[in-house]
Amino acid sequence: METPTLETIDILDPDLYVQRGYPQAEWTLLRREAPVFWYERPNVNPFWAVTKHTDIVAVSRQPELFRSSQLLFVAISQPGASASDEAILLQLLNMNPPEHGSYRSLVNRRFTPRAVQQLTTRVEQIAAEVLDSVANREECDFVTEVSAKLPLAVIAEMFGIPRADWALMFRLSNAMIGAADPEYGGEQTIRENLERARLKFFHYFTQLIDDRRKTRRDDLSSDLANGQVNAGPLPQFELLSYFALLIVAGNETTRNATTGGLDAFVKHPDQWQRLKRDPSLVPSAVEEILRWTSPVIHFARTATADTELRGTKIHAGDVLALFYPSANRDEEVFEQPFRFDIGRTPNPHLAFGIGEHYCLGANLARLELLAMFRQLAERLDSVELAGPATRMRSSFVGGIKHMPIRYQMRPRPHASHGALTETATMAARFK
Ligand code: HEM
Repeated sequence: METPTLETIDILDPDLYVQRGYPQAEWTLLRREAPVFWYERPNVNPFWAVTKHTDIVAVSRQPELFRSSQLLFVAISQPGASASDEAILLQLLNMNPPEHGSYRSLVNRRFTPRAVQQLTTRVEQIAAEVLDSVANREECDFVTEVSAKLPLAVIAEMFGIPRADWALMFRLSNAMIGAADPEYGGEQTIRENLERARLKFFHYFTQLIDDRRKTRRDDLSSDLANGQVNAGPLPQFELLSYFALLIVAGNETTRNATTGGLDAFVKHPDQWQRLKRDPSLVPSAVEEILRWTSPVIHFARTATADTELRGTKIHAGDVLALFYPSANRDEEVFEQPFRFDIGRTPNPHLAFGIGEHYCLGANLARLELLAMFRQLAERLDSVELAGPATRMRSSFVGGIKHMPIRYQMRPRPHASHGALTETATMAARFK
């Protein structure tokens, strides 16, 4: 491969992400030579690529100066795609203070450390059942059969979505986050793929909202359906968007951290043995997995006034893209950033972002990863890749779609059969 130069590097083409994974060499070059880089290419609306940890923190912590907008992410333009400013979704991620805070407080109480901790037993149970479902085999697709299942089950239960509809949630959230990927999104333009998935989601959630307005339950659907901002119910578009965000946000991301985490262990067997020997390392291993995998590639912000970042002049209206995986390999913050070290402390990674839009689901994602890796360390006696992993076509959220593995897994002592049955749902627990 050619040595990247500032003139030729490509950090946006989703096909490159499919072929080569994250462009770490390019980001390293940017951090070293042009940490706030005006990225101008023929098929791209130019933007500032921000790749250093300190700068991403600074931008994220000034939500008035660097606002979130409809433009959540930057992308190469597709032939035939129409550039429209019309919002596909209107929810937390593209809101700003003070509106953002009032919307966030509608569901916040279900995502606090305390609230999430109460889900521990159930999350551990689901993780165990997911592993049971592949335990008596020697090969599986780790993504579709393991890592995708836990976050989907957990969020679906929190919403009180019936088991029979989880597959639909899985398909639609894949289609939204992987709108540029033919397997997930479809064959049309990103915009059209998004639009189609959104309409299906909206149709489903409209019925759910009606139901919870008639019969309130102790679940996220009811909180949102009956929630109030500015002394009234949420406008329907914002409400439906909020449902879609919460279902979509935690799926591909947590899934990818789980898959990428196992992949990291396969490639660093010394760390795997270390974890198996000393399970007290699971919490720091999870943080290292988050840093290592950094499932969200970037989010965009728009400057509201002329300003400076690292001495570089930014003009009002300029778009900035914050590349979190690059911040998480920043040599000025992490010692030996390209070393996967499950004992790394401190580990101030930015996998969940920072500031105003800091990931609402961070506690939940951590709980899911803790449950999964604790049990994998306990039960997985050996593991290797059984074929190449397939990556999602996206430069916005990193995803591994399939990862065949060959393994030996111990059965769970006293395993209750009937993986992911509906009987003990969290929704039922909430009642
Ligand atoms: C490993 C898993 C996850 C990763 C890496 C991740 C990453 C992120 C990132 C980078 C942001 C944007 C932060 C910013 O702009 O400063 C974000 C926002 C958000 N995440 Fe997550 N996330 C994960 C899991 C989840 C889960 C499980 C949920 C919920 C069920 C969730 C819900 C959200 C929501 C609602 C926002 C928007 C917050 C706001 O705008 O105020 N995420 N996440």
